[in-house]
Amino acid sequence: MRTRFTELLGIEHPVVQGGMMWVGRAELAAAVSEAGGLGIVTALTQPTPHDLATEIARTRKLTDKPFGVNLTILPSINPPPYDEYRRAIVDSGVTIVETAGSSPEPHMGFFREHGVQVIHKCTSVRHAVKAERAGVAAVSIDGFECAGHPGEDDIPGLVLVPAAADALSIPFIASGGFADGRGLAAALVLGADGINMGTRFMCSEESPIAAAVKRRIVEATELDTTLIFRSLRNTARVARNSVSEQVTRILADGGTFVDVQELVAGSRGRRVFEDGDLDAGIWTAGLVQGLIHDVPPAGEIVTRIVREARAVLDATQTKFTP
Ligand SMILES: Cc1cc2nc3c(=O)[nH]c(=O)nc-3n(C[C@H](O)[C@H](O)[C@H](O)COP(=O)(O)O)c2cc1C
Repeated sequence: MRTRFTELLGIEHPVVQGGMMWVGRAELAAAVSEAGGLGIVTALTQPTPHDLATEIARTRKLTDKPFGVNLTILPSINPPPYDEYRRAIVDSGVTIVETAGSSPEPHMGFFREHGVQVIHKCTSVRHAVKAERAGVAAVSIDGFECAGHPGEDDIPGLVLVPAAADALSIPFIASGGFADGRGLAAALVLGADGINMGTRFMCSEESPIAAAVKRRIVEATELDTTLIFRSLRNTARVARNSVSEQVTRILADGGTFVDVQELVAGSRGRRVFEDGDLDAGIWTAGLVQGLIHDVPPAGEIVTRIVREARAVLDATQTKFTP
């Protein structure tokens, strides 16, 4: 395929595996890139900047095609050493970074200086326009359907993607709710230059999480997610389970973050992925689980989606009379 996004990054297919905490490791990112998409290693999944450099080296051993690193910058009481992670990324020779969580602006000077192309992931047209002005190379725009943080505007992709197409000049990809070729075809028709996916790649062979979680995604429907932290204006879309329902209940009854802090601890979420105990904590998944029915190799997901998108677009043409 050829779009402004594939041309920008020198990749074959406009299909990106977005950064995923505990999931975006070398094997998965390399498999996506090897198939012609763009795999992304998640920086903060590595406990130290040194471990990130090692993970990048491992990825490079598995593929010589382009891949990126996700740097998620969220407000935190004890922030990780973001500047050291940034330094590890450029010292490892990575030239594609996906930023997310807050404005990329404070990091743009450093990345520009080191020849890094920044793809900024955000959830609103106004933030996308701001990122374009700050000099990012591309935007990834996450609709309300997405796993993780959909923001507070609640605009689904069907409106968000064409609105972004109208407002942006740089290449951008649509994210949230994509899992198959129908989605890629729709994104292209709505004006995007490709797609970004999380939940679909989480449910692939190379995804380093317990088989029980992948099975749960296959069994789940589009009804099986919950929005937590709405009252804190830090909404997150996570899998519906006993913990996410308890958190929603406590906050709806007037509770504050302190009342749910222990329930939402990252260490508990990590146990879900490592031990396959689906109710050990909070874990991220999107509405699109309703469209996911198998656990194929990540590379097959990329090639299948591209093949399907072409077939869907060809078949759609026949609906017009000559
Ligand atoms: C398990 C999981 C962990 C995620 N962690 C991050 C993260 O650390 N940083 C980030 O920018 N996005 C994260 N995301 C969001 C994805 O990169 C992507 O934007 C989102 O999954 C798109 O929605 P989809 O799941 O419907 O494809 C995560 C998603 C999942 C499923």
